[in-house]
Amino acid sequence: MISRLNAPGNWYKQLFAWGMSKVNRADESAIAVRECDRYRSIGELKRDLLGDLSGTVVEIGPGAGNNLGYYSSEIDWVGIEPNPFMHPYLEQQAGRVGLKQARVHLGTAEKLPFEDGQIDAVVGTYVLCSVENLSRSLQEILRVLKPGGQFIFVEHIAGQCGTLTRTVQNAIEPAWKKAFDGCNPNRETGNALKQAGFEAVEMFDFSLSIPIVSPHLAGIARKHGDRLF
Ligand SMILES: C[S@@+](CC[C@H](N)C(=O)[O-])C[C@H]1O[C@@H](n2cnc3c(N)ncnc32)[C@H](O)[C@@H]1O
Repeated sequence: MISRLNAPGNWYKQLFAWGMSKVNRADESAIAVRECDRYRSIGELKRDLLGDLSGTVVEIGPGAGNNLGYYSSEIDWVGIEPNPFMHPYLEQQAGRVGLKQARVHLGTAEKLPFEDGQIDAVVGTYVLCSVENLSRSLQEILRVLKPGGQFIFVEHIAGQCGTLTRTVQNAIEPAWKKAFDGCNPNRETGNALKQAGFEAVEMFDFSLSIPIVSPHLAGIARKHGDRLF
């Protein structure tokens, strides 16, 4: 493990992890949500979507643990994070917010290390933009969820076709992906979620005052209650 962490090129992953750890300090109740009549801030939105989760909650791509403070301390939290430099930050943050059961695995959303139908909820915020294979990741989420289990998501997505935002997103995509650790600025994640095979997907759009990574999409996708997948 040590030699892998020291491999050339890992300085970037390390820097990204350090940057994400700084994001943990942001006061998300002060980040205003626009064009949305449900919530006033990202903090309020996340509290509502994450605060009542119970049982085993798997978070894909948790970064440095920006969401950990929104969960009940009683959940059994499992992070699946491919960047090993995030792991110490996650462990630190889990302790800081008082999660009673938390562990992190090196892995990806495309291959979740769980049996079928074991997990109460899966959470992903600003990660479906970065996964290498979006449809495989969604199929894995469906596979591991219990019948009736839910996938909670908050994502930035592609602007509507024909808008200036979308034109810029398309133009800068290759450079953006290189600069931001594989992030796609123009992913049609909403369509992928609708087509993935969830029984129901409730979602809503909003915007933040950040250019390019806009609009945003948040919601809950529920797995069918009567069969495994
Ligand atoms: C923009 S960061 C978001 C971190 C965190 N979810 C948040 O909202 O602060 C994207 C995260 O997804 C992780 N990631 C990238 N590819 C992934 C994959 N295939 N499966 C799971 N996580 C992945 C990255 O390592 C990074 O931690």
